[in-house]
Parts: sequence; C-alpha cells; structure tokens
Amino acid sequence: MSKPRILLTRTLTPRAHSRIVNDSRISLVHWSEPGAIPPEKFREMIKGVDGAIVLLTEKINADVLQAAGPQLKVISTVSVGYDHISVPDVKRLRPDLKIGITPDVLTDATAELTVGLLLATARRFKESLDIAKSGKWGDWNPQFLMGTQISGKSIGFFGFGRIGQAVAHRLKGFSPSRMTYFSPSPKPDAEKSLGAFRESSIEQFLGASDIVIVTCKLTGETRGIFNAKSFGLMRPGSIFINTARGGIVNHMDLFRALESGPLGSAGLDVTDPEPFPADHPLLTRPNCLILPHIGSATLETREAMADLAVSNCLAGVFGEELPAPVHF
Ligand code: NAP
Ligand code: GLV
Repeated sequence: MSKPRILLTRTLTPRAHSRIVNDSRISLVHWSEPGAIPPEKFREMIKGVDGAIVLLTEKINADVLQAAGPQLKVISTVSVGYDHISVPDVKRLRPDLKIGITPDVLTDATAELTVGLLLATARRFKESLDIAKSGKWGDWNPQFLMGTQISGKSIGFFGFGRIGQAVAHRLKGFSPSRMTYFSPSPKPDAEKSLGAFRESSIEQFLGASDIVIVTCKLTGETRGIFNAKSFGLMRPGSIFINTARGGIVNHMDLFRALESGPLGSAGLDVTDPEPFPADHPLLTRPNCLILPHIGSATLETREAMADLAVSNCLAGVFGEELPAPVHF
C-alpha cells in the first residue's frame, strides 16, 4: 500500500519540521520557497494529497477543495483562528473532512502580547520612541507624554474565550475598577474566578468600558462590527485593542474615531489586509500603535503550535481522532 501524502506549505519551526520530514510512514510534499505559497501553486500541489498542513495565508475554499480531490482527509492549520477556511464550503462539499487547529498552546503568548500592547498603547510608547529618537526630547516637563493608567479603569472584553480570559487573569493584577465581557454564551466559571460580568447589549458594553479588548473569532457576525457606529458608542478617550483579526474592524472608521474622537488611542496586532499597506492613513496616527501580527510569536509557542499541527495532520491521515479538531 502506498504511503499517505502530506502537503506542507511552509518550513516549520525546527523541532516540528524535523518530526514531519523524518516520519517514514508518510510521503511529504513541501513548499520550501520563502514566503507564502502562491494560490495557483497551492491548488496544484494539494491535488491528490491525503492531508495538508497550512498557515492562515492559505485560503481554503470550494476551488481548493475541488482541486484537492475526494481522498483529502484532513486540513491542519498552524493557527487557532480558522477564518481562512470557508466553513460553508467545507460543509457543502466535504462534510467528512477533518479540520485541525492549535488552541491552548498559544493562549499564554497571545495574552502576554495583548497586555504588552495595551500598556504600550495606554502609555504612548509609539510617540515616546519617536521623540527619544528625534532629538525633540526637551527638559523634564510635568505634562510631557501623559498617558492613561489601567488601575481604576473599566475593561471590557469583546469575546471571552481562552485568550480573552487569559488576558483578564493577567489584567486583574492591575486593579481595574471592573471587568465586563460581551460574548454569545455566558461564562459562569470565569465570572466567578475573575469577578467579571456579562453585558447583555453591545451598546451597554461599549458605553461602560474605558478599555475595549477584542479577542473574539472572526465570523460573518463579527466581520466589520467595529465601525463608525460602534466607535461612536465608546467613551471619550477610551482605548481600543484588537489582537483577534483585522476583519473585525473597519480601519478607516477607526482612523476617523482616533482623529476626531471619541477614541483616545488604539493598539492593533492584526489588520485587514495583512500585510497592512505602508501608506495606510492609520499608520500616520500618533495614537495608533500597529504590530505585524506577532501575538503567538515566541519560539516555545510556535514550536508547540507546529507540533500540534503535525499531530493533527498525522492523526487525520491515519484515520485517528484529531488532538484538536474543529467541531462544526
Ligand atoms: P476561543 O476560545 O474560541 O474564543 C473566541 C471567542 O469569540 C469566544 O468567547 C466566542 O464566544 C467569541 N465570539 C464568537 N462570536 C462572537 C460574537 N458574535 N460576538 C462576541 N464574541 C463572539 O478562541 P481563542 O483561542 O480565545 O482565540 C480567539 C481568536 O484570537 C482566534 O479566533 C484568532 O482569530 C485570534 N488569535 C490571534 C492571535 C494573534 O497572533 N494576534 C493569536 C491567536 C489567536 P462564545 O464562547 O460565547 O461562543
Ligand atoms: C493566529 O492569529 C492564530 O489564529 O493562531
């Protein structure tokens, strides 16, 4: 019997890469050139394979599923977010296809980055670094680069899953006045351990928060939900942080809310599109700090993600339960 064929669309971190390359039970098809695999090459290389290990740069839609063929058993993405995989297309064309993701292993790294981004945004690191480099650092001045502190502020989490709750655990140590969340289902355990409570309407949630942190999934419902209308409901001077997905935010509306109010500042680890165009007006705003999607980017976490993605794919091609499947 021939060995199962697995497509790997990137070179992984060293430990996990060597694990898949040296697995003698499978035959590996590897896109080893630098950068993301071009879509047409992806459609060509996925043809006839039994499993694919992909990144969030690879869009999985009807075209790709049809190009792959009916023998494809598993798509394993090296990410917890799977909005690059069209769930309607999978359900319609390949309801038997298994999808693997990398939950939990990246929660700590992404939560730490979110806290760092919040602090950097609230305490004006972007402007401070620019001034330190520019030679415009004048005498000590009592009103120089005054920011906002976290203690005593009301923090709202839009989406309160693994990462949202991990951020809340860390921010509890900063003594916020209260923590609230907005999410489709209640989280009684987190409410108990964090003293957080659930707001029932988005209007109330936004109006009650000095700091809004977005940690929800990107879905049809959340796409573009942060727009002129929702920013208009936020408190004057409030801080907006997004470490989930860029598609949740209308970036021109964010630009206007930062320029003319009510927002005080914003910190983004994710944008739409990615990479974010270097000439986008948001990058000119001193009160907007943008990072290039580095939430899970620590060696420990990227190794753990790649390792789980390899395990998901191997389980899928050998007909076993995936360690971390998506349940549709
Ligand atoms: P998770 O545990 O599944 O949490 C997702 C949360 O989104 C859940 O609380 C869910 O609510 C909520 N949600 C779904 N629909 C919503 C809606 N309409 N309104 C408000 N909330 C909604 O996932 P996670 O592991 O925390 O990851 C969350 C997201 O972070 C991922 O999907 C990914 O996009 C992003 N991420 C980014 C990075 C980065 O590098 N910046 C790293 C990892 C993940 P219910 O529980 O009530 O359904
Ligand atoms: C990163 O953004 C992920 O979804 O894992």
